[in-house]
Amino acid sequence: MTMLSFARDYADSGISRFHMPGHKGVPLHGMESIDLTEIKGADFLFESDGIIAEGERITADAYGAAATCWSAEGSSLSIKAAVCILQRYFGRPVRIASPRNCHRAFLNACTLLDADPVWLYPDRPRTMLCECSVSPDEVQRLLDSDDKIDAVYITSPDYLGGLADIGGISAVCRSHGVFLIVDNAHGAYLKFLGNDIHPLTLGADIVCDSAHKTLPVYTGGGYLHISKNAPPGFVQLAKPSMALFGSTSPSYLIMQSLDLAARELSGSLPEKIRLCCERTARVKALMAQLGIADISAEPMKITIDANSAGYDGNDLADMLREDFMECEYSDTGAVVLMMSPYNSENDFLRLEGFLRRLPKLPPKDRISEAGLFALRPEKVMTLRQAMLSRCERVPVDMAEGRICARTAMSCQPSVAAVMAGERITADIIKILKKYSILEADVL
Ligand SMILES: Cc1ncc(COP(=O)(O)O)c(C=O)c1O
Repeated sequence: MTMLSFARDYADSGISRFHMPGHKGVPLHGMESIDLTEIKGADFLFESDGIIAEGERITADAYGAAATCWSAEGSSLSIKAAVCILQRYFGRPVRIASPRNCHRAFLNACTLLDADPVWLYPDRPRTMLCECSVSPDEVQRLLDSDDKIDAVYITSPDYLGGLADIGGISAVCRSHGVFLIVDNAHGAYLKFLGNDIHPLTLGADIVCDSAHKTLPVYTGGGYLHISKNAPPGFVQLAKPSMALFGSTSPSYLIMQSLDLAARELSGSLPEKIRLCCERTARVKALMAQLGIADISAEPMKITIDANSAGYDGNDLADMLREDFMECEYSDTGAVVLMMSPYNSENDFLRLEGFLRRLPKLPPKDRISEAGLFALRPEKVMTLRQAMLSRCERVPVDMAEGRICARTAMSCQPSVAAVMAGERITADIIKILKKYSILEADVL
């Protein structure tokens, strides 16, 4: 039985609802009749052994995972649980190496669990704000020089569609006896390409997917996957770790859509994903013909390099809006477009028409990110100490020499100019102002 059919049967039964939620199935919004709480037969997310467990098992099988836990609170919950699994496994605060383009959820996890991130700075400066993938060699050098690191944490894909060499990084981690966690929030679909490049397949021990970003799932639906190669203890620790941070009232609507998606994933959805990637590849080919650069390595995402086409990214996003298209993200340099099998052919044709009509302009100078990547802020205290301290907000011009109390990023997740616990310098202030961050929280 699917969770949706359970909810529909319940709604049709005419039973008197003397339980939460307060809407009692009466429509204000439209979905109330099938929005339930954890009543008898509906199962409990964090102690699932009924219809939720069945849907999770179908999902795990589709991904080849030892176990998959659903999240009704996105990857934000799965990421906190992932760090918690490690902490409970080792029985002490863990040291995790990560590039600085991590999502806030990872910083929150480190804060709450007092895990200590070791920042992995790439050898050569990257050119885009959200891009910070490190190479296997860079990871190797760090692990050779620091034998106290318990895990490596990689964000791949990054927000702009950059992909890290997860296979190479996982081989390095394995050879050092270090675990690999991948924030694959943007890549739940990567399992279902002709060549499976999901991080779990490529050797990660724990992977966090935002199912809702690329699959037909309501906003908030996500996965925490545990690899078959991870220690068995990880599976046992997964649910209690999700429960430590998750709400005791997970949305039944989100879980129903996770359940339906699980069944689609073991049915026709993989083929639809492949077709969508083929269709996206045709748009990418057209862009190449037209001389418009796409800097996304992802097959279901296009990132228009606006500057090389002669535009500011935010202006280009406005032009798309005028043609009735909304992007996922834009900044001065780039415009990110996310596709899925549920985009219509008309959507693709509209985009292609726009690209064909786009007047060619001389390339615009890209705002250099070199200053951001050159920063190596001094760590004065841990994230936890800084984030849980009393702080005040001051204009950034007044912040020189003070200790940052809240990590400052220009967008989520981009490379942070300064993390909580680091000292703010004149160089950092220059970079913050460049990204229009004009106030800072300081201890
Ligand atoms: C790279 C990355 N990780 C994690 C998250 C958090 O995911 P969610 O919104 O599903 O909680 C996001 C959200 O945009 C993200 O871009």
